[in-house]
Amino acid sequence: MSKVKDAKLAADGRKQIEWAEMQMGGLLRIRSRFSGEKPLKGLRIGMALHVTKETAALVRTLKAGGASVAIAGCNPLSTQDDVAAALADEGIEVFAWKGQTVDEYYDNLNKVLDAKPQITIDDGCDLVTLIHTKRKDLLENVIGGTEETTTGVNRLRAMEKDGALKYPVVAVNDSDTKHLMDNYIGTGQSSIDGLLRATSILVAGKNFVVVGYGPCGKGVALRANGMGANVIVTEVDAFKALQAVMDGYRVMPLAEAARIGDVFITVTGNKNVITTDHMEKMKNGAILANAGHFDLEIDVKGLKGISASSKKIRNDLEEYTLKNKIKIYLCSQGRLVNLAAAEGHPSDIMSMSFMNQALAVEHIAKNKLGPKVHVLPAKIDDLVARLQLESMGVKIDSLTPEQEKYLTGWAEGT
Ligand code: ADE
Repeated sequence: MSKVKDAKLAADGRKQIEWAEMQMGGLLRIRSRFSGEKPLKGLRIGMALHVTKETAALVRTLKAGGASVAIAGCNPLSTQDDVAAALADEGIEVFAWKGQTVDEYYDNLNKVLDAKPQITIDDGCDLVTLIHTKRKDLLENVIGGTEETTTGVNRLRAMEKDGALKYPVVAVNDSDTKHLMDNYIGTGQSSIDGLLRATSILVAGKNFVVVGYGPCGKGVALRANGMGANVIVTEVDAFKALQAVMDGYRVMPLAEAARIGDVFITVTGNKNVITTDHMEKMKNGAILANAGHFDLEIDVKGLKGISASSKKIRNDLEEYTLKNKIKIYLCSQGRLVNLAAAEGHPSDIMSMSFMNQALAVEHIAKNKLGPKVHVLPAKIDDLVARLQLESMGVKIDSLTPEQEKYLTGWAEGT
């Protein structure tokens, strides 16, 4: 029995899903094949993903392939309630609403696990972790899992290293058509979208501090720069710092950037990155937002500790007046600003991520994989790129036999 905010929102949710699917031609091509071939016939799938209109398009695709699906959110603030209602109305077991408490969040994950999934689909590794800690009885049913995001893949690799991972998990994040599109182009656009919906500030001319220069940070910096911001990058990795310098940004330690930044966006995947020491150095009016998976990057508890008072300014924007009288503004409680304040990545981008997810589930169903972290074969990555190009009406060239021979040989030089 599903649990959503308001079942009456189903008709609205259906319209949102249809609108998303209009931009998700690649995924629809896979759905059409799945409908005929039923490669997932009889499989029970348990998911913890952001419950958005794009995720609904993935759920419909898995269902078309013959699977039954139970879904919970992977973040307490990211569920689109109308979409959750629409999915429940289509017979999917849904346990998600926007604004869950942490206890409700874990209750909902457990409800998904009560369906005894044979395949798990995670965004952040919370389902896998629950199964390996509190729900070990379920391990015997599971044939594999997939993981959507960098943070989740990092946790899985740590489990693998400790010999703790008991079933195969495909790191969907590691496909080129995922992290070089979703993390880079997707996070770049959706984080700015979230920041603007939360604050409505002008970006041009602002000192815009991007904390972390992985694929997500690169995307955020690119788009902020494109809107006229003065981008400053902070890094702990020497090569990534060098890339930021060569891309034309100022690079400096966060303690220095703290004094001059107008906007700070964290995209590190780490914890306690912006600390109270940094906050106490900030300018009056500084804005903080996080676009990393968990709400650990900005020390929100510490911020409350050094504040004399706080008040809600508008949806997704809280004002903290520090004891030193400086006002700091926090977006979406320090949770993923792109999904909490906006609607996550655009549908076209999620089409590629979710083609990878659908094909990863099929890959698990058709192959006997060992209990480790797997990446998808290059030919699946290539197929996703081709389907995306086809859906966009873009044609490309192919190698001549002579060129193919040249590229795979060594004898021919100058
Ligand atoms: N992650 C980032 N954006 C997303 C979206 N629109 N739907 C699901 N997961 C996401």
